[in-house]
Amino acid sequence: MTLVNSLHWTGASLAILDQRVLPAETIYQEYQTAPDIADAIRAMQVRGAPAIGIAAAYAVALSVKQHSEQQPDRWLEAVESDMEILRQARPTAVNLFWALDKMRAALALATTPDTAWSIAREVAEAIERDDLAANRRIGELGADLLTDARGVLTHCNAGALATAGHGTALGVIRTAYARAPLSVYAGETRPWLQGARLTVWELSRDTIPVTLIADSAAAWLMRQGSVDWLVVGADRICANGDTANKIGTYSLALLARAHGVKVMIAAPTSTVDLKLSAGDAIEIEMRDAFELLPDCYRTLEQPVSAWNPVFDVTPAYLIDAIVTERGVAHRPHQNGIQECL
Ligand code: MRU
Repeated sequence: MTLVNSLHWTGASLAILDQRVLPAETIYQEYQTAPDIADAIRAMQVRGAPAIGIAAAYAVALSVKQHSEQQPDRWLEAVESDMEILRQARPTAVNLFWALDKMRAALALATTPDTAWSIAREVAEAIERDDLAANRRIGELGADLLTDARGVLTHCNAGALATAGHGTALGVIRTAYARAPLSVYAGETRPWLQGARLTVWELSRDTIPVTLIADSAAAWLMRQGSVDWLVVGADRICANGDTANKIGTYSLALLARAHGVKVMIAAPTSTVDLKLSAGDAIEIEMRDAFELLPDCYRTLEQPVSAWNPVFDVTPAYLIDAIVTERGVAHRPHQNGIQECL
């Protein structure tokens, strides 16, 4: 196994692997402050729901370190303001808010600036450790559902790069492949190409054969009978099972239903948001039109626009299984999600 770490915690700084330039370059940039880490999350230097949450947790720990040293009387106010900056970094992945809430609750137990720093560090490290353990368990539970599968399709990158390691959807694929050979297809995932640049790279480093497809080839691939399951990650799972994930997941789930392909959502419980009853309430991140539009349109007098939502919501009725580290919710639309909580 040659797992890549998207984050490296030194105890006094956080090194972030710049996912924007992968696979051509492997560059880590080191951060010491929460606002700088918020910028790195916004700019997608680090991306993927669990990795965003872990980066934010370390950002809070660094904020506690900085402000408890610089202003021991008013450190908490300064940390609160850093947490607000982190909350604004990206809206859809609930793991960001989950991690910040966890850090805030832990800091409430701190009696001195020194205890705050040691608590913050320990809780952030535990968030990262628990995510890796969750992914290994998700891998086992998800792979149990793939025993008869010959082919799977995944979308975006829900791998080691997007988590503390092993991955969610890619964790399932890694574990299943270790048990028995499986044809793995990855959608390129426009406009950011997480599939083409990150998923294909990760799997090839693990010597798992993977076939890249254009996003628009998915229907035709399913029509050939090459895929038994669509296996994807999630950014937010609502109480009714509706699930936000990378733009294009909803289309793939509709195609899957039309072709008798099953749909698996693999995600840790930190991605479940019981406060939202259904997917309509999820805020979908809109990103800059020029992530989609070719640069040549920047200079035109008549502006050309682009509509660039980067997530969509797959309704629960299109999902066959939600797999978390705690269990599997089969057909959540009929049976609810209790089994995976
Ligand atoms: O915009 P991104 O790259 O952060 O979107 C990532 C996804 O949609 C992933 O599928 C999701 O976060 C799960 S990662 C384990």
